[in-house]
Amino acid sequence: MERIKVNLRKTEDNSYEIVIGKKLLKKIPLELKKNNLAHSYAIITDSNVSSIYGKKLIEQFKKSKIKTILISFPAGEKSKNRGTKVIIENEMLKAGMARDSAVIALGGGVVGDVAGFVAATFNRGIPYVQVPTTLVASVDSSIGGKTGIDTLYGKNLIGAFHQPYRVYIDVETLTTLDKKEIREGLAEIIKYCVIRDEKLFGFIEKNMNKIFSYRPEILIPVIKKCCEIKGNIVELDEKESNLRKILNFGHTIGHAIENLLDYKITHGESISMGMITEGKIALQLGILKREDLERLHNLLKKAGLPTRFPVRMDLKKMMATMKLDKKARRGKIEMVLPKKIGEMSETKGNFAIKIANIQITKALDIG
Ligand SMILES: NC(=O)c1ccc[n+]([C@@H]2O[C@H](COP(=O)([O-])OP(=O)(O)OC[C@H]3O[C@@H](n4cnc5c(N)ncnc54)[C@H](O)[C@@H]3O)[C@@H](O)[C@H]2O)c1
Ligand SMILES: [Zn+2]
Repeated sequence: MERIKVNLRKTEDNSYEIVIGKKLLKKIPLELKKNNLAHSYAIITDSNVSSIYGKKLIEQFKKSKIKTILISFPAGEKSKNRGTKVIIENEMLKAGMARDSAVIALGGGVVGDVAGFVAATFNRGIPYVQVPTTLVASVDSSIGGKTGIDTLYGKNLIGAFHQPYRVYIDVETLTTLDKKEIREGLAEIIKYCVIRDEKLFGFIEKNMNKIFSYRPEILIPVIKKCCEIKGNIVELDEKESNLRKILNFGHTIGHAIENLLDYKITHGESISMGMITEGKIALQLGILKREDLERLHNLLKKAGLPTRFPVRMDLKKMMATMKLDKKARRGKIEMVLPKKIGEMSETKGNFAIKIANIQITKALDIG
């Protein structure tokens, strides 16, 4: 028997820049052209964003004499599936897109996840640029390189890690969002504050109204700080072996709630309740002080996010759902818990804490 080793140990540089500001849509085509990113582009977007910003963006590309096509799919989570990916891929192939093409993901998290996954596998991987147009996408989904689609068996179960070439956040695109979508973003922003930044927490406490009036002088520094927090965590732990888990604060309980309520409540609403419940567990375990939990509670309420369950939750189902979650380890429920606003609890460098069923029962108040 002969054995040959194919040596592939390599250090890859997946670094990228996040650009935040006003009037950026106009600048994107020329900047990419100067950087020689690709010969042709597919702008992928959804039916809502296409009419507001898609047409404007493709005009800018055409003005710069760059071959570009615009592909739009029906807005909403329902489109985040294999079928949509196939349709986009066929349109790209039909237009002659190849290895020297790149994708522009223009839209919210749904567009970013689908378009990023298309880019990850098209011709075995082409570059893509994130142009987030929701607050959630600006502070969360456009950074970190997680791409993917939903399946009948669960959300985000098929996908790839594929880092963007660049992220352009034009805060002016956020002005057409519903207040409800602002709240969705705020839930994740408040999470970042709890896990990493007490100062930002204070800033949001003071400037909540200005966020809801889309003021760029407030949105820009808030988004910048959140991108720094997520970017820094991803830098240290790209594939989620330990530190990246702190981004899941509120999500263990949150995912179980949204799942049990059949996604009739939004992700932001579920993680708001999730953060309060996980905060209560931290309080019970003597990790978090009551004042800090109250401060979190007040800020979520100020953002218009729910802190109580809309219906009495079924404990057995809740536990079973959490045990099926990707974050459970061999049937044991694990969580990351805050020590205070701005800092997560850590034992010997490990952030995940195994939680006994009784703690969850007590915090859910359904025992
Ligand atoms: N990859 C990641 O790391 C990551 C992280 C968080 C969330 N996600 C995913 O992101 C998705 C949620 O993202 P979302 O909250 O942005 O939802 P979304 O993409 O569905 O956008 C919400 C709604 O806003 C509309 N919209 C987008 N931009 C607009 C604008 N500027 N003006 C008016 N309307 C606009 C959309 O058409 C849609 O109807 C989920 O699928 C979630 O799984 C991924
Ligand atoms: Zn989330």
